[in-house]
Amino acid sequence: MSLDMAHGSFGLMAGLDDQPLDPMLSLLALLRNDPRTEKIDLGIGVYRDALGRTPVMRAVKAAEQTLVDGQVSKSYVAAEGDARFVSLLAPVVFGPLASDDCLSGLQTPGGTGALRLAAALIHRLNPTARVWLGTPTWPNHATLMQAAGLQVVEHPFFDTATQTIAFDAMMGALSGMRAGDVLLLHGCCHNPTGAELSAEQWQAVGDLVLRKGVVPLIDLAYQGLGHGLDEDAAQARALVARVPEAIVAVSCSKNFGLYRDRIGALWVKGPTPQAARRARDLVTLSARTLWSMPPDHGAAVVGAILSSDTLAADWRAELADMRSRITAMRRALSAAVPSLPEIADQTGMFALLPLTRDAVLRLRADHGIYMVESGRINIAGLHDGNLDAFAAAISPYLPQG
Ligand code: LMR
Repeated sequence: MSLDMAHGSFGLMAGLDDQPLDPMLSLLALLRNDPRTEKIDLGIGVYRDALGRTPVMRAVKAAEQTLVDGQVSKSYVAAEGDARFVSLLAPVVFGPLASDDCLSGLQTPGGTGALRLAAALIHRLNPTARVWLGTPTWPNHATLMQAAGLQVVEHPFFDTATQTIAFDAMMGALSGMRAGDVLLLHGCCHNPTGAELSAEQWQAVGDLVLRKGVVPLIDLAYQGLGHGLDEDAAQARALVARVPEAIVAVSCSKNFGLYRDRIGALWVKGPTPQAARRARDLVTLSARTLWSMPPDHGAAVVGAILSSDTLAADWRAELADMRSRITAMRRALSAAVPSLPEIADQTGMFALLPLTRDAVLRLRADHGIYMVESGRINIAGLHDGNLDAFAAAISPYLPQG
């Protein structure tokens, strides 16, 4: 470090070049600064209703009201967050498996916080572990793992042109995994493709991780937005039940609409209850060094909803409506664009369209259509008022099937 006081700098930051912006976040900024009124926002993955709004869910509003009236302190909770929230969320995520003593969980700041803690745990336990990521995946997956010092190995997952999972290529690549490696799997509603492994394919992946001694890390960020809360978690639950060690990162951002409140959870499954608890304690130490304590508000809200039969039922009902709207938009898009029949059968908020980067940029410039440069769209950004315009705009750029 040079002491260059003449130029008013200690030399720490003076040599910094412009930093690459996160593509998802810079898209958000471009959209906000676009003055056109007819913009179509299919960018960041937030749910939108038929009017293009991202409302606060009814049960969340009601729970927040009880908190405003009844909360008596803002004192610290704990590095592992709110234990009541974790125990109330566990049956939603794991169903009957929630009572397994080999599972131990803690509250995290969003699903990203859960993934970051998972990465820290893996690195702590096995610094040479390689994390296998199917491509394409959520872009932050690789950077999160690398930030914790882990090596990432990519393997093919999806063929965008045919809109199908490249399962043979995937399994061929995964045969290179070795004991102690980690396989990151999307629990449901795969981001960015919307393509799900079938039950048989999950079974085959489970066979492989068992044979190889590979730890599955399941990212469950969209539970309830595909086919239903239990349906969406079924394959993750089955895999966790089969293996002696697993890690599950959960987000409440999307299914409770609590994006900005940063609420999620992480569970570790160990070979014994003691091993799971010790791993959980190790994770808690990482949390302490990263953010000390997670924010409480989202956990308090989810806790209030899940501990009230009335609020929980209303939450489930509103989530079902959101799911139905997404499914209806998938079908409508597929009907409007005949070369994309698969979109109707995929699940969740996302689809990865076979569009070039140039086409994505043209659509943005000419039509105010905002999507990630990879061609990922957030289906929930479509509604009856913009679907036809979107279908007409993208059609010339799609390969004719
Ligand atoms: C997305 O994929 O759009 C969301 O999960 C937002 C994010 O953090 O990238």
